[in-house]
Amino acid sequence: MAGGCARRPRSLRRQRCAGASRRTAAAAPGWALCVCAAAAFAGAALPRLLSGGLQGRARTTAGSAPAAPATHARGKRRTRCKMAVSGVPSVAAHFATPIYRRRLHNAREVEELNSEIMVEAQQLVSFDERGLRWSGKNYPGGYTSFASMGRLHKFSSTFSKLERWANHHVRSFAKYLEFDALDDLVMTECWINIMPEGTHHGLHLHQCSTLSGTYYVETPRGCSGIRFEDPRLDRTMAAPPRAHSARRSNRQVVEYPARAGEVILWESWLRHQVQPNRGEGDRVSVSFNYHWC
Ligand SMILES: [Fe+2]
Repeated sequence: MAGGCARRPRSLRRQRCAGASRRTAAAAPGWALCVCAAAAFAGAALPRLLSGGLQGRARTTAGSAPAAPATHARGKRRTRCKMAVSGVPSVAAHFATPIYRRRLHNAREVEELNSEIMVEAQQLVSFDERGLRWSGKNYPGGYTSFASMGRLHKFSSTFSKLERWANHHVRSFAKYLEFDALDDLVMTECWINIMPEGTHHGLHLHQCSTLSGTYYVETPRGCSGIRFEDPRLDRTMAAPPRAHSARRSNRQVVEYPARAGEVILWESWLRHQVQPNRGEGDRVSVSFNYHWC
């Protein structure tokens, strides 16, 4: 594209950086990025991306070598030419991994529900010998009814109330994910987890389900949150680590704090874990799965 300005309005062509040489334009086949013309095009509010990530790089036609940043002599100083030959780059996020978080219900009723759950949790611990045995092997230091009483919502009015309230959130989340047949998603499992100080839950995912979630009942100060891992982590061996200051959407591990009364939802294939509980007291939660029925 000779001169690089052929597709720009005539008024913008006149704003072409005075020092841009024909040699520079010829070195950038296809279209090359040059910030000052893009700024003239888009005003002063160009995204930071333009001045950071892509500035100085030139997009080229397929198969051609990347062009060097456009520069030209201005007096004795060599200055980067900030003119776009054509187009403004855009970056879009695809293949999202949404995580949903919200308070389950109004504060007063949530408080009542949590009290009822704690009473039933103590009852479960007192008679669920199979669950205690299983927890001793697979959930050291804590108790979970996952393997022994994994459908609490089917025989306890307390947990069926939790199911009713959770349904609303699951439906909202499924709608956000643009699932078809929203009404066919039902709670299939629901179990309680009690994690005293030091108990942890290793990296895992929830098989045979579509959406999963956790509702927090008791969360002592300093207790661990829930940590999610980028599902593409095993495909990024050659990628450099992300900066500590990387925005949340670019991190490979994110942690959500555990807050009593809140529900967190995710797609069941997303791996997650709970670090050892450092809070002073039991961290109590109810986990559940939803699946097509
Ligand atoms: Fe889990």
